[in-house]
Amino acid sequence: MAIIHDDAGRRRFLSQAVMGFGLLFGMGTLALRFAQFLVPSPKPRRYEAVLIGTESKVPLGEAVPMDLGGHKIMVLRSDEGVVAFSRRCTDLGCLVSWNKEQGEFVCPCHQGRFDKNGKNIAGPPPRPLDRFDVVKRGGQLYVNIQNV
Ligand code: FES
Repeated sequence: MAIIHDDAGRRRFLSQAVMGFGLLFGMGTLALRFAQFLVPSPKPRRYEAVLIGTESKVPLGEAVPMDLGGHKIMVLRSDEGVVAFSRRCTDLGCLVSWNKEQGEFVCPCHQGRFDKNGKNIAGPPPRPLDRFDVVKRGGQLYVNIQNV
């Protein structure tokens, strides 16, 4: 390490040190912005909690169709709790209904069937029904409708 003996040398050293830190800070910020440009953060998902009432609104073993903000859903209450699914069949979008005797969702268009967990079990539907989160707060049930 160099020993600085005079004021001019000290000032020059401090000036260069400040410029060096400034340059490093600027380069770091530029690198960070460039990295954010290359790898943009994913668009945050927005949720809207829609009140659907108390559990008694959905009798045990039943699925009640509802229209929440344009989303046609089916709220099912079983021994395992309350769940909500989109009524849109994952084949061509017909509206499914609940068959209590079979304990399945049934699509009238091409006889697609889904189990009580929304899993596609028969017919042409290629994937399970879309599922919405149900939250119980203060004795009330809310369905989280995802807005994408
Ligand atoms: S639209 Fe539901 S099975 Fe085809």
